[in-house]
Amino acid sequence: MNSYTETNPLLTIEGVSKSFNGKLILRDIGTPEKPFVIYDVIRPDRIQGQTIAVVGESGSGKSTLFKLIAGIIKPTTGTITIPNEYKNDGTFKLVDPGDVGYVQQTYPLSRNQTVQKMLMLAAEQGGIPKNERSKKVDEFIESWNLKEQRNLSKKPLSGGQRQRVAIIEQLLCSHHMLIFDEPFSGLDVRNIDDVKKSFEMITQTSELGTIIFSTHDIHLAVELADLIYVVGFEKGKPGGTIVRCFDLKKMGIAWEPYGPLHAELTSGIKKIIKGG
Ligand SMILES: Nc1ncnc2c1ncn2[C@@H]1O[C@H](COP(=O)(O)OP(=O)(O)O)[C@@H](O)[C@H]1O
Ligand SMILES: [Mg+2]
Repeated sequence: MNSYTETNPLLTIEGVSKSFNGKLILRDIGTPEKPFVIYDVIRPDRIQGQTIAVVGESGSGKSTLFKLIAGIIKPTTGTITIPNEYKNDGTFKLVDPGDVGYVQQTYPLSRNQTVQKMLMLAAEQGGIPKNERSKKVDEFIESWNLKEQRNLSKKPLSGGQRQRVAIIEQLLCSHHMLIFDEPFSGLDVRNIDDVKKSFEMITQTSELGTIIFSTHDIHLAVELADLIYVVGFEKGKPGGTIVRCFDLKKMGIAWEPYGPLHAELTSGIKKIIKGG
């Protein structure tokens, strides 16, 4: 089994609910019985970021949960906190828009400018000091294999290249935590592989690199995630909530090639979602 320890909380959700026009959409996310805390996972002798999947039937509130985590909408009750990185003193703050990156499903690049210019702008938005911006952007362009696309604007870029630019934009202007809402839906096999590679880049090049993604493909969730939250409905109660949480690290199957135990978990989760 891969040894690991969990240290600092990177995201803590406590007692969160969300209503729209008086209608409860999400209920009791993060309770003492069912905590919602994402910790920094440390593995000996390697960089290890976190990959968290959120699965559940359509309409159970996954996208709403993601907008709450990204600070795009505010919870009706409860709190969502992240480390106060500017203070870097072990204190926590409520999440504000821009703290957590939100990678759009369709990867619209904001402006029709060259890759270099867009990334420089993202670096500026992210508060990276002026004299460090171009070095930082160069590092990303190099490590994400976009050197030949540096001076291209959005039209000639492939879907995979656009997504990589969108990810780097978010990494530059937010912190280390990125949300991907349904990043695999509608993609063919090759593009699915591109997204998987991007996930690896994020979690294998930064210790705090954290991906929170949703998918309808339970097999992919089990293959990629080290923690899976299942969102669903409970009989007689309004709104979606966390019905189960599977910690693949504790189960000893995180960071391992997909095998029989993964297959068992996949079918177990499918049953929970069907029965919900
Ligand atoms: N801004 C909004 N105003 C009113 N209802 C909303 C709003 N956003 C989402 N909802 C409702 O919340 C429920 C959950 O939606 P969503 O979070 O998109 O679920 P999922 O992503 O799991 O499919 C749906 O019934 C949807 O209609
Ligand atoms: Mg959704």
